[in-house]
Amino acid sequence: MTQNWTPQTWRDKPAQQLPTYPDQGALAKTERIISGMPPLVFAGEARQLKAQLADVCAGKAFILQGGDCAESFSEFQTNKIRDTFRVLLQMAVVMTFGGSLPVIKMGRMAGQFAKPRSSDEETMNGVTLPSYRGDIINKMEFTEEGRMPDPMRMVRAYNQSASTLNLLRAFAQGGYADLNEVHRWNLDFVTDSPLSERYEKLANEIGGALTFMKACGITGENVPSMREADFYTCHEALLLPYEEAMTRVDSTTGDWYDTSAHFLWIGARTQQTDGAQIEFVRGINNPIGMKVPPELDADTLMTLIDTLNPENEPGRLSLIARMGAGQVEEKLAPLVRRVKEEGRNVVWVCDPMHGNIEKSESGFKTRRFDNILAEVKGFFAVHRAEGTHPGGVHFEMTGQNVTECVGGAHDVKDEDLSSRYHTACDPRLNANQALELAFLVADELKAIASK
Ligand code: TRP
Ligand code: MN
Repeated sequence: MTQNWTPQTWRDKPAQQLPTYPDQGALAKTERIISGMPPLVFAGEARQLKAQLADVCAGKAFILQGGDCAESFSEFQTNKIRDTFRVLLQMAVVMTFGGSLPVIKMGRMAGQFAKPRSSDEETMNGVTLPSYRGDIINKMEFTEEGRMPDPMRMVRAYNQSASTLNLLRAFAQGGYADLNEVHRWNLDFVTDSPLSERYEKLANEIGGALTFMKACGITGENVPSMREADFYTCHEALLLPYEEAMTRVDSTTGDWYDTSAHFLWIGARTQQTDGAQIEFVRGINNPIGMKVPPELDADTLMTLIDTLNPENEPGRLSLIARMGAGQVEEKLAPLVRRVKEEGRNVVWVCDPMHGNIEKSESGFKTRRFDNILAEVKGFFAVHRAEGTHPGGVHFEMTGQNVTECVGGAHDVKDEDLSSRYHTACDPRLNANQALELAFLVADELKAIASK
């Protein structure tokens, strides 16, 4: 067990990005309520995920992480969950087939509610109020009441996470993810897109393979993995009072697990080596991630790796690089080299979203599809050059037909952004753009497999 650690030790460390709750008594009461709620995920599932991530470490599997930048209370709808899940299945099947590698599927779902902000306060028309920090903390609405952090929102976020996860489990295990359904995952608006033809072709090939296997006696009835998929959840470990309350001792091993999600990551704004978030995640036994921004120097990275994974356990730590298209090769290569030279077991994941945010001419926060594509390509190029395994990708995406990122096969234009811009936070890939990226990743994986 981790030395000198309890779920509370983060409280003695300097904390960034935590809200100031006006009523500490109400906060403590809410923490007690949440500590009494059932776990959302089980320790055994987190261990199974860690073992699968160890396979990624060994170059034998690939990770797909995707979902909203931030979930919200108002956008909580069955169809939205289903559509995002469905695009993730499509992407996963494209990558599995193209790359001939198992793809570990993780949703930024069922708990991705808290957001780090560049400033604690926001001023509008001379009025200054606390910044919006995600629906688990306060409301987007710019009023004094709305922006006041309210601990009871944690209970609502817990409940929404529980029902989202319940639905995801039903989809993943109950027949929706059956490989025989591969044609049906295509969403209506993708049907008449250039990607559709490519996807249909691949679905037909899979169909052919399934027919052959059926003739050989291999079906979903005798091989459950043909009709079920493991689906894991992940979110940023930011709001520590909530994460602490969800942390429990696993009765079979005596180890601590944060049961709010299978996988938790540390964001770029909360990775101070002596900070509260690092202190918290170092003691939980879940597989964890850490974002790697271009500013992070190699020495600090090594310190963080040793704090977060002192046993150098494969699968424990994933480094999620978010460099920006222009500098991915220059910034990522030296870090990958250093980690390899020092023999640290990590998984490298590419987040091509957060280094590529810009303001469009029309004033929307957007991302160019070309930059996202370029960062993914650069990520693969770095690993090719360094002889390391490109372990996975991390996207902000939705199954809805939004217009938030510009470009892609349908060529969303700057002037289109206003038509369907729905994000509660950062601009997301729509289903077409997400699928296009999946094909690019599949091609990159194919190139590695054929070597
Ligand atoms: N169980 C396997 C897996 O998860 C095969 C599989 C079933 C699958 N349904 C899927 C793969 C949907 C991708 C997408 O890999
Ligand atoms: Mn984001």
